[in-house]
Amino acid sequence: MSLSLSIALLLPVLLLSPLFLGAETQIRFVTWKSQFPKVWDQAIADFEAANPGIKVTREIGPHSSTDFHDLVTQKLKNRDPEMDVFFMDVIWPAEFAAAGWALPLDRYFPPAERGKFLVAPILANTYRGQIYGVPLFIDAGMLYYRKDLLAQYGFSPPRTWPELVAQAKAVLAKANDPQLTGFSGQFKQYEGLICNMMEYVLGNGGALWDADALKGTLHRPEVVEAVRFVRDRIIGEISPRGVLAYQEPESLALFAQGRAVFHRNWPYAWEIANDPERSRVAGKVGMTVLPAFPGGKSVSTLGGWQLGISRFSRKPDLAWRFVSFMSSPRMQKQIALYGGRAPALRALYRDADILKKRPEFETQFDTFVNAVPRPRTPVYVPLSNIMQRFFSSAIALRDSNIESLARSASRDMDRVLDLLREGTRP
Ligand code: GLC
Repeated sequence: MSLSLSIALLLPVLLLSPLFLGAETQIRFVTWKSQFPKVWDQAIADFEAANPGIKVTREIGPHSSTDFHDLVTQKLKNRDPEMDVFFMDVIWPAEFAAAGWALPLDRYFPPAERGKFLVAPILANTYRGQIYGVPLFIDAGMLYYRKDLLAQYGFSPPRTWPELVAQAKAVLAKANDPQLTGFSGQFKQYEGLICNMMEYVLGNGGALWDADALKGTLHRPEVVEAVRFVRDRIIGEISPRGVLAYQEPESLALFAQGRAVFHRNWPYAWEIANDPERSRVAGKVGMTVLPAFPGGKSVSTLGGWQLGISRFSRKPDLAWRFVSFMSSPRMQKQIALYGGRAPALRALYRDADILKKRPEFETQFDTFVNAVPRPRTPVYVPLSNIMQRFFSSAIALRDSNIESLARSASRDMDRVLDLLREGTRP
């Protein structure tokens, strides 16, 4: 066939291709509502500028991990081909892999590349030897405190939880400010409650469940004691009862309004708490590791978000182009600098610009690396739902029967954990 003939035959095909038609190829990215929308707008604009002809359509879901999980899994259960890329909480990859929802990324994301990331999030994204997500940033629970108030009353940041309660009570008694409360955290019934409660439970020598014996452990004395501490000493003594309905944004708002002495949150809260346009306590905020129980160790829950590609996407290669751009050192740096997020790429903890803006990242690196992951299993979400109901009812009512609630939650968890026994493995 002559060259001109082949061109003539190919021409209609070429003309109909999206680029010639001037139409853009779209990929749909499903994400949550951010407290730093501009950072994400910018990242997407940068991607589009670097990839002419590709348009990223963003679908913004709820901020809460629990509600966002419902949205993404609904689409995956429906095999919705429209969703190409989605955010995954660090606890989801095993579930999404086992269900066949997330595309294995091994051909795009080889071990040498994975080695540039922190170990824990890579492990969380690995299921039966394959990798299902690329970590974008990590989270670890931190203690925020009012530097000015502690200094005024002669305290240094508390090392233990009972010390934190005592300091909060002393500050409240002396400050004589009816608006001021002692502690703000996330105690609503949702995934954030597990992150908060796990810090007390593991800090007191307990566990969420026994991953080897596949048995519930919530009824054990160390767990019951930690839950009682939260009910009686934190919620009962120093927190407003409103914390029982707080997720991250509401609990941070209380602290940023100058209405809490102490606050538990992820690293991003630093950026907001110290922004004079968003906070009344900018410049008066300190941040350190979470307290321990006397004689025990401080425990910080590992969180963080990854990008995954839907197995039902019709454009996996384009989707990968986007995932790889968003998780690149350049973008993780941008997200760290302007969104206050702790990078998942190791090298960025030695980056001069990041350390200039967030010098504390250097000392916090150990806390990030030692943060404890929630156990990795495809049945994480049903287990979490049982724990959320238990923790919530145990801490919300002053006279709750913690032992009996814990026994029944443990039994319910046993039934879910039975699914993991040999022969019935999903
Ligand atoms: C943060 C963490 C995530 C956790 C969630 C709970 O987004 O990164 O891992 O599940 O908070 O609210």
